[in-house]
Amino acid sequence: KLEEIWMTVSVGVLVIFMVIVGYQTYALGMGPPSHKETIDPQKVEQTAPFDNPGLIDLGDNKYELVMTLEAFAFNPGNVEVPVGAEVEFTMTSKDVSHGVQIPGTNVNAMVLPGHIQKITHTFDEPGEYLILCNEYCGTGHQAMFTTITVK
Ligand code: CUA
Repeated sequence: KLEEIWMTVSVGVLVIFMVIVGYQTYALGMGPPSHKETIDPQKVEQTAPFDNPGLIDLGDNKYELVMTLEAFAFNPGNVEVPVGAEVEFTMTSKDVSHGVQIPGTNVNAMVLPGHIQKITHTFDEPGEYLILCNEYCGTGHQAMFTTITVK
């Protein structure tokens, strides 16, 4: 009978742990990217906000930059923002896995088809920043870059 009690206690503890982990993963959004927003990679152009990529002025020098990546381009490219702008990049890929990196900043992330990648950076220094693909994505990989101008 003692064994049965211990069995019940162990199972109970396991269940409690699973509930806690589940709560943290889903309710607090701490899960891996696959648990975050996903979209149909075949329908990027029909799926908001990617049906209308571009720079959105949120006021207060905050912006959202909705971008699609595809072999071998960033759309839109050559964006311009004011000095001090806080830019939330919202990105997805239309085809294969790409990467996004802005040298000199902490922006460095994978952009995968079917996933929405969000990364925020505040551009305190004026200049022309390169936005590079840093994930090999095919023969045009080296040519896959654009700029963001801060002035
Ligand atoms: Cu896209 Cu490399």
